[in-house]
Amino acid sequence: AKLLVLHGPNLNLLGTREPGVYGHTTLAQIDQALLAQAHAAGHDVESLQSNAEHHLVDRVQAAREDGTAFILINPAAFTHTSVALRDALAAVDVPFIEIHLSNPHAREPFRQHSYFSDKAVGVICGFGADSYRYAMDAALTRLQGTRA
Ligand code: DQA
Repeated sequence: AKLLVLHGPNLNLLGTREPGVYGHTTLAQIDQALLAQAHAAGHDVESLQSNAEHHLVDRVQAAREDGTAFILINPAAFTHTSVALRDALAAVDVPFIEIHLSNPHAREPFRQHSYFSDKAVGVICGFGADSYRYAMDAALTRLQGTRA
């Protein structure tokens, strides 16, 4: 099956962005590891990072047409602001997992509300780059039995 990985604003800076909060792993390293993980299970994955809300909305909309079976998304700051991205995910009705490197619940109050969590299959946060690995593992488990 086909999985889509979406990364929101400023995640292109991973590796050098507030490493005390987000770690030293780069986005390229995360995407590479996710690709290997999906391929090992016989599935395909496409990753997209954007700082622009409309790019992410457009890509989610396209998922309805292109046979995407599962979405992994770290909406980053859009987690706390984007009704539009939430509505796009609800519209396409593709199951998704919400991911965060940090644990937003242990941070500023404005990070403690997510526009995505109540629509997500599940939420994985607080494990740094490993959050992505655990999320991919959960998605692959859900896809077991579907055709690669
Ligand atoms: C984040 C948490 C968000 O609050 C923040 O705006 C980010 C990254 C995370 O992965 O920990 O940009 O989604």
